[in-house]
Amino acid sequence: MPFPNQFTTTPSGHLMLGGCDALALTRKYGTPLIVYDVDQIKAAVSQFTQTLTASGLAHAVCYASKAFSCIAIYQLMARLGCHVDVVSGGELYTALQAHFPPERISFHGNNKTKAELEFAVASHVGSIIIDNFHEINLLKQVLTGNNATVNVMLRVTPGVEAHTHRYITTGQTDSKFGFDLASGQATTALQRVLACSRMNFIGVHAHIGSQIFVPDGFVAAVDRLCALITQWKRNFAVIPAILNIGGGFGVQYTEDDHPVPLKTMLTTITTTVKRAFDQAHLPLPALWVEPGRALVGPAGTTLYTVGSEKHVPGRLPYVAIDGGMGDNIRPALYNARYTAVNAACPTAPATQHVRLVGKYCESGDVLVDDLRIAPVAAGDIVAVPVTGAYGYSMASNYNRNCRPAVVFAQRGRAQLVIQRESYAQLVTNDLSYEGSNE
Ligand code: LLP
Repeated sequence: MPFPNQFTTTPSGHLMLGGCDALALTRKYGTPLIVYDVDQIKAAVSQFTQTLTASGLAHAVCYASKAFSCIAIYQLMARLGCHVDVVSGGELYTALQAHFPPERISFHGNNKTKAELEFAVASHVGSIIIDNFHEINLLKQVLTGNNATVNVMLRVTPGVEAHTHRYITTGQTDSKFGFDLASGQATTALQRVLACSRMNFIGVHAHIGSQIFVPDGFVAAVDRLCALITQWKRNFAVIPAILNIGGGFGVQYTEDDHPVPLKTMLTTITTTVKRAFDQAHLPLPALWVEPGRALVGPAGTTLYTVGSEKHVPGRLPYVAIDGGMGDNIRPALYNARYTAVNAACPTAPATQHVRLVGKYCESGDVLVDDLRIAPVAAGDIVAVPVTGAYGYSMASNYNRNCRPAVVFAQRGRAQLVIQRESYAQLVTNDLSYEGSNE
């Protein structure tokens, strides 16, 4: 994990990412630069697949591509044998441009448009994960209009919500996603799906939260879903083949984060599935998981160049870098915490105490608000680790700043996978205003 005493360094002591010297990468590609260590992504995927394989359950690892979506990551995930989930026509389009096998794509979303459903059906995606009654009607129209059939799962809100080290159960989860289990909506949805011969019902899905550190929320959700499936078997003689328990596996952003090791999380979940389904005399389902952050978050590091500093008497100094909320909105949006190091000497004593801020016209554009770091000055490169998930994918052009470049690094070789946006690209959609002088 990328924390001060665990950084890999070059012989000259520079931060090493994917076997490449971080400073050399910034000289070649500029900053801000997001660097992914490809072997770290591969290791994360194989931790999931190995643990699930050891459980004996049929399974699929569906990369939640909202965490980071671009052609290269879909190509990599395809090679690693993953499925992907997409949540928009744009993500689906990108996956298809990468020649991702459509039968391994699940299409999610709480307000899929008719055009998106048309696109998904025409692309022969592996499944559509239906979220609400409106979607059932729309999908029926689309399938009838195209004389098509499609595999569907139902997204259920199981009344379990998990965040970090807590989970809560509520009778009726107040969520914009999915069919409520407690009030019977999920069962009504099942009846409507079963009534449509063009929909092939293959699974139940639940996603209980993000950045989850302990397995107990998953355990509660599995138990509830198993009870629901028991009812469905009794009342409709239907047993879904797939149990998709969503994503949300937490990662360590700072030394204060302590997620239970992934292997323990997954083993607890698989043991629960086997125990619950055996007790209910149900055939074991295929277990699908949808990790986003856990696959790509820790593998990404953002490199920035230090510019201005400001010293306010009696306060922590501000050190500004050439990116910020445009490439990482998470601190401003969620109070997310990160750490940062001087990329020239990541393991040197952190003797400077500063606030690391961005270049955006917004006081909330603070990347790390209480940072201890080895001394940095204008021109130095600062590295912010664990930025691989929900950084680039939530990036914006606020203040008409260009979005950063992205590089995949592996065993000393680096490859540009997303070009740095140019000023010319910023205005490609702008049209001249032909106003009159009246
Ligand atoms: N499956 C479903 C249905 C989801 O809604 C999500 C995330 C995932 C899987 C993947 O969750 P993960 O394993 O990455 O936690 N922008 C926020 C996170 C939003 C997550 C939304 N859904 C952040 O930066 O923390």
